[in-house]
Amino acid sequence: MKAIVQDKYGAPDDLELRDVDTPAVGDDDVLVRVRAASVHPDVWHIVSGRPFVIRLLGAGFFRPKKSIPGTDMSGIVESIGTNVTTFRSGDAVFGETIRTDQWTNGGAYAEYVSVPHDLLALKPDNITFEQAASVSTSGFIALMNLRDVPRLHTGKKVLVNGAGGGVGALALQIIKSHGAHVTAVDSTSKLDMLRALGADEVIDYTMEDFTRGGARYDLIFDVPGNHQFSECRRALEPDGRYVLIGHERFGASGKRVFGIVPYFFKLMFLSRFVQQLRGPGIPMPTRKDAMAVLRDLLVAGKITPIIDSTYPLSEVSEAFRHMIEDELQGKVIITT
Ligand SMILES: NC(=O)c1ccc[n+]([C@@H]2O[C@H](COP(=O)([O-])OP(=O)(O)OC[C@H]3O[C@@H](n4cnc5c(N)ncnc54)[C@H](OP(=O)(O)O)[C@@H]3O)[C@@H](O)[C@H]2O)c1
Repeated sequence: MKAIVQDKYGAPDDLELRDVDTPAVGDDDVLVRVRAASVHPDVWHIVSGRPFVIRLLGAGFFRPKKSIPGTDMSGIVESIGTNVTTFRSGDAVFGETIRTDQWTNGGAYAEYVSVPHDLLALKPDNITFEQAASVSTSGFIALMNLRDVPRLHTGKKVLVNGAGGGVGALALQIIKSHGAHVTAVDSTSKLDMLRALGADEVIDYTMEDFTRGGARYDLIFDVPGNHQFSECRRALEPDGRYVLIGHERFGASGKRVFGIVPYFFKLMFLSRFVQQLRGPGIPMPTRKDAMAVLRDLLVAGKITPIIDSTYPLSEVSEAFRHMIEDELQGKVIITT
């Protein structure tokens, strides 16, 4: 099969399209003929090997442990392992390709990928393969950090900072589906898209600092983390909650070794004293449960994945460049 191969950490231009063996199918796995896969910041982390700490978190110390990038995709079931009863050949599916975390290559940038069956769900008929491919990794990050989302019913006020990105756009729609009033923050060119996705109010971060606007929120869901928590606190209700997702800005944050990990540790330490930093006390969803939730939301039309552009497998480097350098309106997708 054709696949994108990464031999070393470096730039997207180091990725090569090659002929490789089609993966074997384990007893609990499903072999998927990939139709589309998504390009997102976590794949960039593994392609670049930055921050360095991700190499200790599973990516591989000197070079990537697994050579084919990509963590989420959609496609058609080609064959199934002997223990798989939930899918059959010809099913249209979407899902994640790795069980543990995003810090390793997941093999999605290929014509075929072998995936544990419980990381897949049937693709809803009302969305395209490109849309389906864009949901799983970003959606899992959103759901993992919105475990108390039923609390965000009508009358609650939520601010999503970085709402125009992969995680933010899904978080915005998941929160809206529970009825809360959402203020979405992002750059000028994304504000119309955010209104169309259901944002009640929008703030252009190039013109206005939400921490100084005087409004107070029950939840701040913060993707870029461009303000210190002490600043965000001005915009939080006393019993509100602050959730940091974190973003390295494709290396521009300059934290080459540990990235934002030390800041997460600082917030964890502060959470002993600051109620607004405490987690929801609800266990993480399993990937299987998250896939079921995401599928239900898609089928019900409560989340609509927005696609900025699609690139063929042979143009993965251009796709990365576009994600890193240009203003996006939705997700960048690879098609095979
Ligand atoms: N915490 C967790 O549980 C967890 C787990 C896994 C991964 N992650 C991290 O989650 C991130 C994924 O984010 P993503 O896919 O949503 O990234 P993304 O698609 O790049 O979106 C980031 C958004 O933030 C916007 N933004 C940039 N600067 C901003 C500012 N100062 N104020 C407001 N908005 C700003 C960007 O807009 P412009 O650039 O156009 O201005 C963009 O729309 C990755 O960095 C990944 O490492 C977190």
